[in-house]
Amino acid sequence: MSKKYYLTTAIDYVNGHPHLGHAYEKVVTDAIARVHQSFGESTFFLTGLDEHGQKVQKAATEQGLNPQDYCDDLAASWKVFVDQLGLCHDDFVRTTQDRHREVVQKLLMRLHEEGHFYKATYQGYYSAKQETFLTEKDRGEDGAFDPLYGEVVELLEDNYYFKLGRHQQWLIEYIESHPDFVTPEYRRNEVLGFLKNQTLEDLCISRPQSRLSWGIPLPFDPDYVTYVWFDALTNYASIPASMGDPALPGFGKAPDKEAALWPADIHVIGKDILKFHAVYWPIMLKAAGFAMPRQICVHGWWQKDGQKMSKSTGNVVDPIEVIEEWGVDAFRYYLLRELDIGPDGNWTDKGFHARYSAELANGLGNLINRSLAMLNRYRSGVVPAPCDELKPEVSEAADEVLDLARSHRLQASLRRIWELIARVNQFIDQTAPFKLAKDPSQSDRLDEILYTLVESCRVIGVLLHPFLPITSKKIYEQLGLEVVPHLFEYATWGGLPQGHQACAPEPLFPRKDLPTKQES
Ligand code: MSP
Repeated sequence: MSKKYYLTTAIDYVNGHPHLGHAYEKVVTDAIARVHQSFGESTFFLTGLDEHGQKVQKAATEQGLNPQDYCDDLAASWKVFVDQLGLCHDDFVRTTQDRHREVVQKLLMRLHEEGHFYKATYQGYYSAKQETFLTEKDRGEDGAFDPLYGEVVELLEDNYYFKLGRHQQWLIEYIESHPDFVTPEYRRNEVLGFLKNQTLEDLCISRPQSRLSWGIPLPFDPDYVTYVWFDALTNYASIPASMGDPALPGFGKAPDKEAALWPADIHVIGKDILKFHAVYWPIMLKAAGFAMPRQICVHGWWQKDGQKMSKSTGNVVDPIEVIEEWGVDAFRYYLLRELDIGPDGNWTDKGFHARYSAELANGLGNLINRSLAMLNRYRSGVVPAPCDELKPEVSEAADEVLDLARSHRLQASLRRIWELIARVNQFIDQTAPFKLAKDPSQSDRLDEILYTLVESCRVIGVLLHPFLPITSKKIYEQLGLEVVPHLFEYATWGGLPQGHQACAPEPLFPRKDLPTKQES
């Protein structure tokens, strides 16, 4: 079997509850996975949890729990969250699992044996909150460390370091010669700017057990645990390795062609963790002798009403509340349509409601509803003879959506689908089938219009599948089609045969006129 298209999200810290930002990253990755599936590719989509480190140890201690019990409790609710988002993920990694720990330890051992690490004494500042060492360079103009670092303490400590200096030059050359390695381009430039203007400092990959016990022990020195980022980044390779990926030999199960995933095709991450993914991770892979991932796709951050989301000010968006009230496809639609992958976004309840009513209820919902209602009313739901009146326009739109989707331009794909929806709605208004239905001499013309409408709805259903999978299936069901519209090849005009019996329409996005508790 050939290699699957392998996608990952960042793995979330388990020290809190899921919010809009976590949901966004997963929805983007899910839509990209489904785009590839619609092109007929097999995919493997990995998401999961980052469970080690100081933050988790501290949160568990504060609740009087041991860290593993604390993680187990929270992991259960994160898994429910992932299910509520309706993701097509194939696996859910937890960094406390044996299958992950074993690979991390093998990787550490290999790099240790090959001389990539050294032990040294560190004297300086440390931010426990960010689990990172700081230098004088990290002080702001006022001489203080950024509040982001929380309490900064002075430390004198022996640790293991990863020699990064020798990797700086090849990494610059690699990123320069692989224009799609980091996207969007301005993020790529940010990495190149950093690599070209600063000397890479060696990375501390250990923490003493005496200070932090909640981590994976270093296989060559049990007095230390692994730095949480070294541990976490390895998840992208540990799961394929544990399945026997032939591209990661010696790290997990015996090679199995069925498990061919590496290299990852796309790591979807937020802008705050770019350096870890575009600098440390490639160096870790290169040192271990593994291939580079093909792409690091960096998305922006969501705010709510123009401000950072924060529990203390109460301006958070709880994805589950939105999904329970409006449905998961309405939530996915807003995220993907409102924000392109890259820039920062701003959630407003007003904006969400406006898109829901104009684009989902009135635009898409109304088109499907009117088309099927008329087919049922005037032709008892039986599809008339094929007609090619809108074929050129629908086919052109479909081709454009496929091109946009192929290059992961999710927002632009949706915009193009909605242009098509507007065009077909306009066709109803222009041809006025409800008037023709009153005149028996116009029966042939009415047949042409009805075919054009239901066939356009069918193609729209296919194009929507990666973005709004539930709605897409409902459109097919209402059209009386038994297959799932999961392949773009179904978007070819003429799929509905004459005589096919469609079903009665049911509202896809019920109108909600009353202000709800989320109305601002
Ligand atoms: N555990 C690390 C990632 C390790 S990956 C090997 C981590 N976890 S996190 O829970 O803090 O963040 C997980 C992802 O959510 C990151 O990609 C982050 O950028 C993203 N987001 C967190 N808040 C966000 C928003 N407000 N908006 C969009 N995405 C945001 O970092």
